[in-house]
Amino acid sequence: MKTTTLTLRKLKGQRPIVVTTAYDVITARLASESGVDVILVGDSVGDNLLGFDSTVPVTLDMIAHHTGAVSRARPDSLIAADVPFGEAHFDFERVLAGCQRLLQQAGAEAVKIEGGARLAPLVARLTAAGVPVWGHIGLEPQQVRVLGRYRKFGVDPVEAERILADGLALEKAGCFALLLEMVEPNLARTITETVKIPTIGIGSGIDCDGQVLVSTDLLGLNSGVMPNFAHAFAAVGEETRKGFAAYATAVRERKFPK
Ligand code: KIV
Repeated sequence: MKTTTLTLRKLKGQRPIVVTTAYDVITARLASESGVDVILVGDSVGDNLLGFDSTVPVTLDMIAHHTGAVSRARPDSLIAADVPFGEAHFDFERVLAGCQRLLQQAGAEAVKIEGGARLAPLVARLTAAGVPVWGHIGLEPQQVRVLGRYRKFGVDPVEAERILADGLALEKAGCFALLLEMVEPNLARTITETVKIPTIGIGSGIDCDGQVLVSTDLLGLNSGVMPNFAHAFAAVGEETRKGFAAYATAVRERKFPK
């Protein structure tokens, strides 16, 4: 059955929500067939698939391209697409046009936007226009050039208060869910208990309403540094290497084709 934003809201307090990323039709199909609730066409496509060192170089064209591929898998999972670097900071008409493109042409069913209370007025206008928005607070990887590095958020009490306020402002603005990235686990639990919409954590402890992992990390396809909170649940990279090596040997030894 197709997962919708309503399904996710109903799942809060019932069972943990399962989220992963996908950027292509094969991964999207496999994730959906495996019961993943939400597929995020994340801007993590940049540093996980396209060879960039961060999500900053990812453009709306790239997200639309990969969202199109994911939507052609016709997954039961809800398809959410990231609003990439800079896009949420243009005037409302341009942001709406970007979301329109993702929802009307690319096949997204929701968008995810990084940023806290400062984006609440924008989120309120987008939701009023019919765009389902998933908020993203705590670590905002699109801010990495400002931050200088990725780090945990909400250890400092003043910062913790600000992040809780971000979550409340985005809920009030109409977000259907909140992604909590690298949020100190006790704060993530407090936010989860305070807001009525589901929280999806990454590197934010066990007490969120759901968890998201980047598919290349969880499948054992990460060729760089694995984040310390991530876990490989399969060894697809190793199996792929074995497959290519077996093919190369068969060709060189004239055992393929038969
Ligand atoms: O782009 C992405 O993959 C994300 C992760 C935090 C899940 O936003």
